[in-house]
Amino acid sequence: MNKTILVTGGLGYIGSHTVVELQNSNYKVVVIDNLSNSIKEVAERIVSITKQPIQLYVADINDHSSLEALFKQETIEGVIHFAAHKAVGESVQNPFKYYRNNIDGMITLHQVMHQHHVKTIVFSSSCTVYGDTKSSPIEETHPVTEAISPYGTTKLVCEQILKDLCKYSGFKGIILRYFNPVGAHPSTLIGELPLGVPDNLVPYITQTAAGIREKLTVFGNDYNTPDGTNIRDYIHVVDLAKAHVKALDYAFAMDQDYEIFNLGTGKGYSVLEVIKAFEKVSGKNLPYVMGARRAGDVEQIWADATKAEKLLKWAHQFDLNDMMDSAWKWQVALNDSNLGKIKDTTS
Ligand code: NAD
Ligand code: UFG
Repeated sequence: MNKTILVTGGLGYIGSHTVVELQNSNYKVVVIDNLSNSIKEVAERIVSITKQPIQLYVADINDHSSLEALFKQETIEGVIHFAAHKAVGESVQNPFKYYRNNIDGMITLHQVMHQHHVKTIVFSSSCTVYGDTKSSPIEETHPVTEAISPYGTTKLVCEQILKDLCKYSGFKGIILRYFNPVGAHPSTLIGELPLGVPDNLVPYITQTAAGIREKLTVFGNDYNTPDGTNIRDYIHVVDLAKAHVKALDYAFAMDQDYEIFNLGTGKGYSVLEVIKAFEKVSGKNLPYVMGARRAGDVEQIWADATKAEKLLKWAHQFDLNDMMDSAWKWQVALNDSNLGKIKDTTS
């Protein structure tokens, strides 16, 4: 019998792509999502990609009784936990919103899992836990440092909670530290749905090319990097989603309490290199200007992803051109569809 997996935040950007890959790998999927940063239509689109049903619970993971009802109704054997708020800037403005949703949500979820003897979990963390690193590539053994935002704090705290539960309460946990997820599903049916003006580079680029934004501002060109702009490790969301399936398989089989994996390609690209790749694959000239540095930006960071490659037997398949191509095709499809209107992805 195929295992049933609960995906929290399964209608969101990374969650929706992971649901597709789980179903492609014959897992049965139950999703809980409160639609705080997603829309129900994503569930229909996932079904049209995989032709398999999803059991969807529109509910909040902070709501203990809804989670109880879900765990009573379904035979959950493992959980992939995406549900969280993720806007770094907003977390600085409203830290309590982040502590409540991300940390309380994690605790409530794990408490109900514990009560129902479900102990296998994959958790979404971020390279933000490494803070302002001085040298790359970064291995998982690199020390985590004081967070550079309340959002980052929630990731550090949640990692620690999960480690505790793995050490003392029989959980088997995988912590995945993502670098910069970008791109969209090749079907162009699912992708990132940023709310309002995007904070992140790639949706800002695609919205500018689509004429929704006037121009991109490059945040700083006086860094100590070859072209002066920040370097990041961009990873295609489909590669990232596939890594979750491998991580889950690994968690079901592992003896150790928990394991941490970086998920990146192991190669860093500057902001200008990303723009060039976008222009090449889209055939568009991107209007951009050089601007001031953005507070809190790390100069350069990329992953050492060899641990995931070795232990999870995972390897990324898509390169920067594929990422930009799929992001652009998604933006075009979004303009043509009703999704962008249902969730205002532009104003
Ligand atoms: P997203 O906002 O697209 O998806 C999160 C989903 O969770 C949304 O559908 C939202 O409605 C739902 N949600 C939020 N709070 C909830 C709650 N209390 N109960 C139920 N549902 C809730 O974000 P994403 O980009 O898919 O990120 C997924 C996870 O990965 C998050 O934990 C995020 O912090 C982490 N992460 C993301 C990035 C990135 O750049 N996208 C990088 C590192 C880590
Ligand atoms: N950038 C611009 N102009 C923009 C937007 C971004 O030049 O309009 C630059 C940034 O300065 C940075 C790069 O593009 O150099 C990437 O920026 P993103 O905002 O796309 O991504 P970040 O690396 O800042 O943030 C990501 C995740 C966060 C996570 C953080 C950890 O989105 O969730 O990595 O470092 F916390």
